[in-house]
Amino acid sequence: MRKLPEIDRTPNPAGHANSARGVAGNSAMHDSAWKHVRGEARYIDDMPEPEGVLHAAVGHSTHAHAKIKSMDLSAVRAFPGVVAVLTVDDVPGHIDIGPVFPGDPVLANGLVEHVGQPLFAVAATSLRAARQAARQAKVEYEPLDHAVTVHDALEKQLFVRPDHTQQRGDFEKALNESPHRLQGAINVGGQEHFYLESQACLVEPSEDAGVHVHTSSQHPSEVQTLVAEVLGLPIHEVTAEVRRMGGGFGGKETQAAPLACVAALLARHTGRAVKYRLARYDDMVQTGKRHDFYNTYDIGFDDDGVLQGADIMVAGRCGYSPDLSDAIVDRAMFHSDNAYSLGPARVTGHRCKTHTVSNTAFRGFGGPQGMMTIEMAMDDIARHLGQDPLDIRKRNLYRPGRDTTHYGQVVEQHVLAELMEKLEISADYRKRREEIVTFNRDNPVLKRGIALTPVKFGISFTVQHLNQAGALVHIYTDGSILVNHGGTEMGQGLYIKVAQVVAAAFQVDLERIKVTSTRTDKVPNTSPTAASSGSDLNGMAALDACEKIKANLADYAAQKFGVDASEVRFANNQVIAGEHAVDWAEFVQGAYTARIPLFSSGYYQTPKIHYDRNTGQGRPFYYYANGAACSEVIVDTLTGEYRILRSDILHDVGQSLNPAIDIGQIEGAFIQGAGWLTTEELVYADDGRLLSNGPATYKIPAVSDAPLDFRVSLLENSPNKEATVFRSKAVGEPPFMLGMSVWSALRDAVASVADYRHSTPLDTPATPERVLGAVTRTQEWLEQQRAKDTAHKGEKEGNRKGAPA
Ligand code: MTE
Ligand code: MOS
Repeated sequence: MRKLPEIDRTPNPAGHANSARGVAGNSAMHDSAWKHVRGEARYIDDMPEPEGVLHAAVGHSTHAHAKIKSMDLSAVRAFPGVVAVLTVDDVPGHIDIGPVFPGDPVLANGLVEHVGQPLFAVAATSLRAARQAARQAKVEYEPLDHAVTVHDALEKQLFVRPDHTQQRGDFEKALNESPHRLQGAINVGGQEHFYLESQACLVEPSEDAGVHVHTSSQHPSEVQTLVAEVLGLPIHEVTAEVRRMGGGFGGKETQAAPLACVAALLARHTGRAVKYRLARYDDMVQTGKRHDFYNTYDIGFDDDGVLQGADIMVAGRCGYSPDLSDAIVDRAMFHSDNAYSLGPARVTGHRCKTHTVSNTAFRGFGGPQGMMTIEMAMDDIARHLGQDPLDIRKRNLYRPGRDTTHYGQVVEQHVLAELMEKLEISADYRKRREEIVTFNRDNPVLKRGIALTPVKFGISFTVQHLNQAGALVHIYTDGSILVNHGGTEMGQGLYIKVAQVVAAAFQVDLERIKVTSTRTDKVPNTSPTAASSGSDLNGMAALDACEKIKANLADYAAQKFGVDASEVRFANNQVIAGEHAVDWAEFVQGAYTARIPLFSSGYYQTPKIHYDRNTGQGRPFYYYANGAACSEVIVDTLTGEYRILRSDILHDVGQSLNPAIDIGQIEGAFIQGAGWLTTEELVYADDGRLLSNGPATYKIPAVSDAPLDFRVSLLENSPNKEATVFRSKAVGEPPFMLGMSVWSALRDAVASVADYRHSTPLDTPATPERVLGAVTRTQEWLEQQRAKDTAHKGEKEGNRKGAPA
């Protein structure tokens, strides 16, 4: 039976009504919830089309790595309905649109580096015509040597960026002196974002040289900048606007810009509006995904399984260009300790270049891939010592005295020991462990497994300058409030959270607040909505704007009612000055008449953070978000098929801004994480083609894959120690990694086959095929072990017989 989490859905439940936090902290409904379920929420493809709109498509490379010898586009141009066909030669401005480092030509420039790379762009009067026309090109290639996998790239020494190392202490000495030492390796799979709304944009030429871009992007400022560069215009000629995305998950951080650039080129060339949206198949082939990784570890530990030192290597498949891979592999490195003190350690990260699509941000941004290595090691230590993996994990947690990470940041708020203890009890871990051991002893075919795994995730962009945000708050004369900030809405509930912050600041009803679409002409130079920092950054920027307006209003009230400004309070939809209490709308009208400014911008920059990439040391994260999950699975050892029987989650969001939204984020992230580690498999052919290129060949979790019993709670009374917005913590990405509990539970079930004496590696995604493979290898180990034991016993008996009396 599926238990629904208890959520208080009343607009202003008791306990919060009079608190200083006002409506922040309540489970207000997502501002678009009704529109979402009624199909009224407008996505790009739902917008009324401007007159004369054209539709865009591109021609794709069919080679992984090749020189373009010739491109005959006459048949494309002649195709009925085609209005324009552009190649790289028609680009008036920059050709390279690499978001951080160069390497991404907007259209192929004589060379192709992955199958599906855009060669030329078509605009036609219908979408069908554009797509069909794009297939009429005759392209001659001169194939070049190519690399597809991380292993190919490592062998050929192909990298998109130089290696980076973080090191703390003498790890070699520590490893050599450790009572126990283990090595291991794991291939961690990639992941397709599978946002429900595929990439889309609509570009309208403006009356001057510029364009207005409606884009489904997490990073409107980058879209604006790159479109301006491609068109050869100053940035102020271009406006990018995002009302909402139908999911982004990191896949629309950099990946929306190339579409916008192509559509903008076509729009400027034709003088007509151009809409460009990708079919699912094209989206899967043409846009970047989560990096798959190959990671190794070499660890030392004592008799209790406590780590004494570690040497970890992570290598990510970046694809053909750098995109965000430098920062993504960095984050994998930052998180290769997950929640555990490694002791003296070295972590090395490789950025492998392959002739595949350029991989990009995906929820967790490399963190999940980095954590998998040490989580594998935790299980391996447990089997090696014959102990429960949960005990090993608990003993290795950061704690006072063992609190410095391999990159020099000190873990200051120790949440996990208590959090895991609570979850262990509420999930009834020990009793269920006993039952499972008994069950497995009695059942030769079906095996159950359980695991309780923690997550510690660093919050802040590791690129320091991105940790800033701006907001605009307008109060109109009827007391209604309009908010605009640099963050984008992708379903995660950022707009409602910021609205709650503003409502709390003025102590007015949430209904008075409206957050409008994100536009680069309202708040400039914004960071992507990413790194889970949307509400941390934009909530604080909005609060800053509110505080400035409140100071004006307080001065006005003080003057009007003859009190000190410090005695003016905002409460219950009123402004209160001494004896006087004035209704909010009336007060605002009065302030306007008295010529008091009723709008302000706000700004925020995250304090305390720094990281020196040359030394690999610093304090890259403002704070850590924490959580733990306990999952139980059942595996059919004849087929490798399995089900998640139950998952219990306890997660730390500090003081929640909106518990219902946060629980939704945790549930969704957990399922997405479990999908990444179990059923979602990206398969590339040797020639670099993506074979898993649609929903029929790529399996995201369905409702039936969710845990049969799913219990999610927020850690109570755990305000953020740092001064974040209302002491909340970021929630978007961290719970994704709770999915690791499912993978570890699968390993637990597999290990039961050899009475928990052997730790068989289990690459991800742990599809039924891989689980079956692991079961088989575990059985083989057991056979060998038995044979050895028999031989050994025979030997011993022989010795005894032959031994002198
Ligand atoms: N939730 C929904 N519904 N849709 C999304 O696309 N993206 C995730 C997470 N939660 C996403 C989501 C990712 S990758 C990030 S970084 C954060 O939301 C971004 O939003 P935030 O910073 O406002 O939490
Ligand atoms: Mo999220 S991967 O930081 O967009």
